[in-house]
Amino acid sequence: MATRKTSIKPTHFPEPRPREVSVLVLAAGEGKRMLSRHSKVVHPLAGKPMVRYVVDAALAMGASRVLVVVGSRGEEVKAAIGAHDKRIGFCVQERPLGTGHAVLSAEKALKGAEGTLLIVNGDLPSLRAETLQGFLSTHRQSGVPLTLVTAVLSDPGSYGRIVRNYNSEVARIVEATDASSEEKQIKEINAGIYCVEIDHLFKNLKLVGANNAQGEVYLTDLVEILKKNHAKVAAYCHPEPEEVLGVNNRREHARAAKTLFLRKAAELMDAGVSILDPDGTYVDADVKVGRDTLLYPGTILEGDTIIGEGCRIGPGTRIVSSTLANGVEVLDYCVIRQARLGRGVRVGPFAHLRPETDLAEEVRIGNFVETKKSKIGRGSKANHLAYLGDSEIGAGVNVGAGTITCNYDGEKKHKTVLEDDVFIGSDSQLVAPVKVHRGAYVGAGSTITKDVPPYSLAIARGRQVVVENWVKRRKKKRR
Ligand code: UD1
Ligand code: CA
Repeated sequence: MATRKTSIKPTHFPEPRPREVSVLVLAAGEGKRMLSRHSKVVHPLAGKPMVRYVVDAALAMGASRVLVVVGSRGEEVKAAIGAHDKRIGFCVQERPLGTGHAVLSAEKALKGAEGTLLIVNGDLPSLRAETLQGFLSTHRQSGVPLTLVTAVLSDPGSYGRIVRNYNSEVARIVEATDASSEEKQIKEINAGIYCVEIDHLFKNLKLVGANNAQGEVYLTDLVEILKKNHAKVAAYCHPEPEEVLGVNNRREHARAAKTLFLRKAAELMDAGVSILDPDGTYVDADVKVGRDTLLYPGTILEGDTIIGEGCRIGPGTRIVSSTLANGVEVLDYCVIRQARLGRGVRVGPFAHLRPETDLAEEVRIGNFVETKKSKIGRGSKANHLAYLGDSEIGAGVNVGAGTITCNYDGEKKHKTVLEDDVFIGSDSQLVAPVKVHRGAYVGAGSTITKDVPPYSLAIARGRQVVVENWVKRRKKKRR
């Protein structure tokens, strides 16, 4: 039977749009407890300013907009965050009069926004996007105007304490500085992360006073005001307190850095990287490491370093903003900065590769060799005690022990060029500008000041004089 054609078109219902969420990051505080010239939130952890972690988590959880409240050191906070995503915006709290006041200073910037506002303290670098997401959906399911994240700490220290009523509902938050000795015993703390319905926020926050030990407008007092109006406040007790620990002083800064380094190490191991001692390996947040790479203890990988697959790094080696291809081996105690290392390169132990070092495949750089602004061709070797600066070295070149490019005349830098298959004998100086042409040899101990033609031998050292029996004659004279 032939199927009958139909003219009925299927109806398309519009997809339900996921409800948008704005995130407000509080970063205008003075951070006095850090005793620093800089804003607390720009202090780096694992290579990224503290506040960037919070902003990045907000972006990653799908915020439609991330508004950061900045204060007197706003410029450095803005610079630390950057403008890499157009969802990021800033507003100013003229004076640091408290977290509640910080939120109030965002009122104008948030004009027209509706629904839920997620407020996060800017000093929570360990907070993950997944946690924010889970928290937001908990809040939306509960339908209450305010939900806050809490955690239970064995040592609740300077955190605000969650005071619950006889029904175990959140009744209010009391800051440590204002808490009675009984309240101080409370182990459940306020993490500084809130989901609040905007239509409840500003009108109630304006009722908060500053009658407390610090004379500040506390955002946390919003809880008590909502409760007085018979509104419900929910709490989301986070099972992993480590993730919501604030950074207020240098000790907490170190602790958060440790958490982030360990988290990065775990991520790498889960992606097929071997780390012998995750506790003693420091990989910055933005570093990428390929599979089957092995990191020995004391390895420090910083900035936007990229390490390929099957590499071996360390122990005790530091690599900053560099790119290593697959199969590179960097032995013990090397320092590498802004360099590029091609496939199968071997470096170290004790080598120093400075900016603009560019090593082609299979290059060998051995112990106590320093390179700077030098391009070295495939398979070339400088295995011992050399300085190669401002040089262009071809493929298959052998740089003998103790070779020095004399690149600086006291005023300017000059270039040394060694073409393919050149051989430089040990303890030679190449006084730049100078060029050794293809296939030429330089005899050991030479001071080369003029270009060497292709396939020739240059020796530039004093000729050896042998005076036979000189020692015996001298001894006789002395008698
Ligand atoms: C705050 C909470 C406390 C909670 C803790 C969690 C208040 C009153 N207290 O205390 O209950 O346990 O966080 O870590 O909210 N900020 C501004 N403007 C200001 C003051 C602060 O933007 O005027 C910013 C800071 O830059 C910081 C955040 O708000 O990123 C929190 O301020 P902070 O002084 O660290 O508050 P805590 O004392 O830790
Ligand atoms: Ca804090």
